[in-house]
Amino acid sequence: MNILFLGYGKMGSALGEMWLSGKVAQKIVAVDPHASGLVYQADCLVDIECVQGTRFDVIVVAVKPNLVTDVLEKLSAEILSGACIVSLAAGVSVSSVESATATKVPIVRAMPNAAVQVNAGCTALYTNHPLADYRFELINKLFESVGKAFWLDKEEQLDAVTAISGSGPAYYHLFSEALADAAESLGLPASLSRDLVACTAYGAAKLQCLPEANLQMLRHTVTSPNGTTHAAIEVFEQDYALRELIIAASNAAYNRARELSGSTSMDPLQRRNSAFFE
Ligand SMILES: NC(=O)c1ccc[n+]([C@@H]2O[C@H](COP(=O)([O-])OP(=O)(O)OC[C@H]3O[C@@H](n4cnc5c(N)ncnc54)[C@H](OP(=O)(O)O)[C@@H]3O)[C@@H](O)[C@H]2O)c1
Repeated sequence: MNILFLGYGKMGSALGEMWLSGKVAQKIVAVDPHASGLVYQADCLVDIECVQGTRFDVIVVAVKPNLVTDVLEKLSAEILSGACIVSLAAGVSVSSVESATATKVPIVRAMPNAAVQVNAGCTALYTNHPLADYRFELINKLFESVGKAFWLDKEEQLDAVTAISGSGPAYYHLFSEALADAAESLGLPASLSRDLVACTAYGAAKLQCLPEANLQMLRHTVTSPNGTTHAAIEVFEQDYALRELIIAASNAAYNRARELSGSTSMDPLQRRNSAFFE
């Protein structure tokens, strides 16, 4: 499989490196001001003119959202021919991608997260037209090779996904930072605190990923009445403060994703209520 990356920064290179090392892609060409000097099985090119005339199965758009139209407008009909565009850009709709391309090609929006670089990513995918079976399998395989892939029915769900799994790794890192600080305040050395926290997060995530795992049951299993965990959970659950904070933070991310996509900000709860009262 030949893949062209437009933009090879944090997310582009994370995916590209994994696809090459996992042998899912045979040839990767990256167009990025910083990609010169990197050598793959193919050349790394800095000038989009140089790739015109080459056939790619997939063109991954991995520039910042404000540059998407700009880079797509530079692609000739020839380079687009036979390719499928996979856009990673948060908030850039399929119709915007469509109107920036010289010819009609299948378009998939993907919202991966940072854990793709350790094969534990979580990618939501959306396309507005059914893909040919072989293409669906190809795109699905790319993202399944770096974690899990979930196909969405509605494009608007991508804004919610952005707020949950796209931004989510940072939320868990913040919780871990706070827990490591707490460990130090209880007298543990910094490096041990960090290792305990990371190892605990990893173990909890593995338990959550078991088939049939129930999040509430997992918590209850380690919370004996009047035990140590119970004492901490009571603090977390007091006035549902932690849950409310998480809802408020997720709504802030969701509204920002909607702003970026040019939609009117309205959180899902507001939307549900307004629909209910109409
Ligand atoms: N990072 C994530 O966790 C994540 C998750 C989901 C989706 N995404 C999406 O992935 C996209 C890339 O994000 P990122 O975090 O990887 O950003 P990034 O690290 O800034 O990477 C973007 C790269 O594109 C380069 N670039 C700028 N103009 C270009 C042009 N005209 N042609 C080719 N390359 C150009 C940039 O170079 P300069 O630095 O010189 O501008 C940079 O190296 C965004 O649209 C984002 O919404 C990211």
